[in-house]
Amino acid sequence: MQKILLIGAKGQVGQELLKTLPKVGEVTAISREELDLTQPEAIIELIETIKPNFIINAAAYTAVDKAEIEPELAQQINTNAPSIIAEAAESLKAIFLHISTDYVFDGTKNTPYLESDLTNPLGVYGRSKRDGERAIQGRGGRYIILRTAWVYGAYGKGNFVKTMLRLGKEREQIKVVSDQIGSPTWAYDIAQRITEILTHPEKVPTGVYHFTNSGVISWYDFAMNIFEEARRLNIPLKVKEVIPITTAEYPTPAKRPAYSVLSNQGLINCLGTYPPYWRASLKEMLEILSF
Ligand SMILES: NC(=O)c1ccc[n+]([C@@H]2O[C@H](COP(=O)([O-])OP(=O)(O)OC[C@H]3O[C@@H](n4cnc5c(N)ncnc54)[C@H](OP(=O)(O)O)[C@@H]3O)[C@@H](O)[C@H]2O)c1
Repeated sequence: MQKILLIGAKGQVGQELLKTLPKVGEVTAISREELDLTQPEAIIELIETIKPNFIINAAAYTAVDKAEIEPELAQQINTNAPSIIAEAAESLKAIFLHISTDYVFDGTKNTPYLESDLTNPLGVYGRSKRDGERAIQGRGGRYIILRTAWVYGAYGKGNFVKTMLRLGKEREQIKVVSDQIGSPTWAYDIAQRITEILTHPEKVPTGVYHFTNSGVISWYDFAMNIFEEARRLNIPLKVKEVIPITTAEYPTPAKRPAYSVLSNQGLINCLGTYPPYWRASLKEMLEILSF
């Protein structure tokens, strides 16, 4: 029986992992209340006590804009903590699966980012995650870094889908950025893929991998589809008009990559399974929300 330590059990991805991981082994699920990732000694003590075969880090400082004014906290959680986890994993010869982000890239490409492409984060959050990746790689143990993007889930705190549904119930007109392109990814699909990796870890050598839902759209297109699906499910909406705007018209404290598409080919080559199309996943997620 595998012993799995799941850190970040109350996040969007963490909550989905809680449901899928028991297929693979005995799960110890840890949230911020049990482990504060700003406390290095507590991280080491926990890992040494549990002695897992697998450690999954689904926790992160994910407030992209707030990170601009809290760079040290973002670094503690997204860089230092993964580094300590990687060191503790290495001493136990455990496999460390860490989740990272498309925001490690600057978005200047116009073809899907490969794992081997140069990183160049545009903001504090992206930099702290990129430095976390480097710290894990520097420890030299058995790791799998899974970069994903545009994550939304039925559980956990807010996300773009939930924000659109809330605004769509409150307002007749909504403006959404149309010049940022990416692949919306359902937290459930990430959890499924991580569970698949843990079932066949021998198929996925140490390294960085990308996993998103397939397909490429703008935030504006995504919003349009959310409203279309929500109407089909009889979710009451007030919104009549969605207006496409540019990033320049919607300034945020942190700059975001204009093109965020990640190539999924690396993991497809290892596992032989393909990511679900974003629209099919959105449909399923909204069905869960509408019950
Ligand atoms: N969300 C996205 O669009 C997106 C895109 C690309 C990559 N990712 C990556 O995907 C992973 C999962 O993201 P997610 O959307 O599931 O994130 P999430 O819902 O924000 O969950 C992150 C979890 O980390 C916890 N956490 C924050 N600070 C902590 C601390 N000091 N100690 C312990 N736990 C702490 C949070 O607890 P609290 O709830 O108490 O704060 C939360 O439960 C992350 O690595 C993220 O960087 C996310």
